[in-house]
Amino acid sequence: MRIILYTGKGGVGKTSISAATAIKCAQLGHQTLVLSTDSAHSLADSLEMEIGNGVAKIADNLYAEEVNVNYELKVNWGKIQSFITEFLHRRGFDDFIAEEFAIFPGMEELFSILKLKEYEEQGRFDVAIIDCAPTGSTARMLSFPDIIEWYMERFFHLQRKIVKTIRPIAERIAKVPLPTDEVYFSMEELYQKIDGMKEILTNPEYSSVRIVFNPEKMVIKESQRILTYLNLFNFPVDAAIANRLIPDAVDNSFFSQWKDIEAQYLRLAEESFNPLPIFKVHLFHREMVGREMLQQMADEIFQDKDPSTIFFKKRPMRVQKVNNDYLLTIPLPHSDKRDLDLWVRGDELIITMKNYRRNLLLPRTISALPLKEARFEGDELKIIFGGDEYGKSSS
Ligand SMILES: Nc1ncnc2c1ncn2[C@@H]1O[C@H](COP(=O)(O)OP(=O)(O)O)[C@@H](O)[C@H]1O
Ligand SMILES: [Mg+2]
Repeated sequence: MRIILYTGKGGVGKTSISAATAIKCAQLGHQTLVLSTDSAHSLADSLEMEIGNGVAKIADNLYAEEVNVNYELKVNWGKIQSFITEFLHRRGFDDFIAEEFAIFPGMEELFSILKLKEYEEQGRFDVAIIDCAPTGSTARMLSFPDIIEWYMERFFHLQRKIVKTIRPIAERIAKVPLPTDEVYFSMEELYQKIDGMKEILTNPEYSSVRIVFNPEKMVIKESQRILTYLNLFNFPVDAAIANRLIPDAVDNSFFSQWKDIEAQYLRLAEESFNPLPIFKVHLFHREMVGREMLQQMADEIFQDKDPSTIFFKKRPMRVQKVNNDYLLTIPLPHSDKRDLDLWVRGDELIITMKNYRRNLLLPRTISALPLKEARFEGDELKIIFGGDEYGKSSS
């Protein structure tokens, strides 16, 4: 099953483009599912169809689902949540606050895509398109598997052993509940599911994320950030889509200035997303609702290409920790170090080389460190950050 996730800042056009992609995929004969995980669902409005509970058939080869986020949360997290709530409550937390604390941001969305594994196993769909919640929440959702893994390995395995032997005494002394076997079992089951899903989503042979953006400064900044996150957590990205471009036909002095600004931001987008392909689509004369308009949108974006194609497979950047340093590896074929120029400005890394310019946003752990060294190894540029956190290099 081919899996495509659309992410991007709120309002950039994720839902419209997800629906448009799905329509085109279905038309090409792929059994297609478009699934929305944003609790503020708008897929049904976009498709102008009732979706209701579960998977709804929309047209030939086309199915849609708006995941009931609260239900998925209850199924996957209910027991664990009750335990955490009870734990916090006994420590004097207000009921309401305890309940809120027991839910981590990004979790609802994560649980919504756990279904993907089932669909994958059923073999019912050829293509699954995921309309994600806005970027911030997606970033947290994607880092959540790593967080839960950390807890499982360090905390829960260890705790379980201890709890088995000391529960009766410990509960009396500590005056807090200790997790029961049921809670452990629930946690373990969830861990297995999340692990399985992460394996699917990080496989570049069939999964990819696409970043939707508008040619505006804040939107592009946020897209850079999500791209860094995706790279860090190993989620393959195969394209970016620039939406709402001013149409060529618009030709008056008011908009000519906007067009210049737009061109400038498209250049920034190219520097930021290079070497990913960028697809483009213009601002339509009205809202994107109904299958006819979505069809036009898909045709403009993908033209004669199949939207389920994997448009890019390599990883644009890798980050590894080596001793106390961070090593950033960027594939840059056919380059000569003499042409290379790079500098750090805040949390941005800017690489220029002859006509090439790359603008990367560094993860915070790295941008706090000084740039130590840059060198080419074969077709790859290796950059090392390290030394003293306060800006003085120790070497
Ligand atoms: N290219 C476009 N031309 C005209 N309207 C658009 C275009 N892309 C999106 N819209 C409209 O903008 C609004 C937000 O789009 P939507 O797809 O819901 O964004 P998101 O899912 O990212 O929040 C919707 O009303 C949609 O119809
Ligand atoms: Mg949306």
